[in-house]
Amino acid sequence: MTFWCGKKVLVTGHTGFKGSWLCLWLQKLGAEVIGYALEAPTVPNLFKVAQVEENMMSIIDDIRNKDRLVSVLKKYKPDIVFHLAAQSLVRKSYANPVETFETNVMGTVNLLDAIRFSESIRVVVNITSDKCYDNKEWSWGYREIDSMGGYDPYSCSKGCSELVTNSFRQSYFKGKDIHLASARAGNVIGGGDWAEDRLVPDIIKSLIKIEPVSIRNPFAVRPWQHVLEPLNGYMMLAEAMWQHGEKYSEPWNFGPDDDHVITVGELTNKLSSLWKENLEIKKDIRKQPHEATLLKLDCSKAKLNLGWYPKLNLEDTLIWTTDWYKEFTWKSEGMKEVTIKQIEAYDKLRRD
Ligand SMILES: NC(=O)c1ccc[n+]([C@@H]2O[C@H](COP(=O)([O-])OP(=O)(O)OC[C@H]3O[C@@H](n4cnc5c(N)ncnc54)[C@H](O)[C@@H]3O)[C@@H](O)[C@H]2O)c1
Repeated sequence: MTFWCGKKVLVTGHTGFKGSWLCLWLQKLGAEVIGYALEAPTVPNLFKVAQVEENMMSIIDDIRNKDRLVSVLKKYKPDIVFHLAAQSLVRKSYANPVETFETNVMGTVNLLDAIRFSESIRVVVNITSDKCYDNKEWSWGYREIDSMGGYDPYSCSKGCSELVTNSFRQSYFKGKDIHLASARAGNVIGGGDWAEDRLVPDIIKSLIKIEPVSIRNPFAVRPWQHVLEPLNGYMMLAEAMWQHGEKYSEPWNFGPDDDHVITVGELTNKLSSLWKENLEIKKDIRKQPHEATLLKLDCSKAKLNLGWYPKLNLEDTLIWTTDWYKEFTWKSEGMKEVTIKQIEAYDKLRRD
């Protein structure tokens, strides 16, 4: 638990949903956190609502600005980097493929190239996605050795980001004291997400307004995990690379167990019953772009070699999520404390 105390950690994408949770957690563990990202992508956003900026250095700039990245690394001399900055939405990637590839692929290239010349950084975790895999629409979980792919621009950009990571690792970092891994997690849920076209934020918005929720495919089966689960994996991975180096400089899957896999319709009903409302589902019959069906990860490697396991069952995952939004809806103040309380509760589960 003392590992992070005093470590200088750069988080790209710190104004986003996952980045905000990660920065608060790192701050709590005593790390000196520096963030690099564009402004928060939604209004409201967790970054503001939970006052994440209060205890960190926040730099607002574009990951496509290589010169600024180089100067930030020079100035702040981080020890560890978590790369989360990305255009993170599948449907937006259909509308803006160039921006998606520039941000997710060239952004990764810019960052890794800047890191190449850093004298302080020892550990880098590139956060990609379970969508990086060539999805064969089968029911087995993908393993880290499976092929990269990606039908839509977002998924493909994450597959490309993986290939870029592998190339930089082999070409520049191997044999040097810079250890680089990638982390592949699936969709996460939790308080403070207001992204467009993500199911849980859509359900919560409808519950608050007491109006039907429009759902594309209520029968689609998806795995659901709390945002703190993969973040725990990213931190364990960084720690393992810091301590044992090259052995851990590889790709890693962090996904939920099979009993976290339920249909979109079931999830909607469970969330509305926790909210104590009867939410009506309206099927969205508009023509939709291609979307992957079930995509599962095989996380044996993380379990066996890192000792990482999901800590929350599905019920607690949903309770923690609705509890957070209830506090936000009915009190709206003190959300930093509410968020930190959940981090502390999760930290306790990690220790037990
Ligand atoms: N949320 C999920 O369910 C999920 C699932 C799998 C993988 N991921 C990945 O995890 C990471 C974080 O996801 P999130 O849900 O927090 O996303 P988010 O959209 O909430 O946040 C994205 C962050 O990236 C920043 N950003 C976007 N474009 C940028 C640019 N050009 N330059 C600098 N910063 C830029 C935003 O400002 C924000 O800080 C992303 O890489 C995403 O692809 C997310």
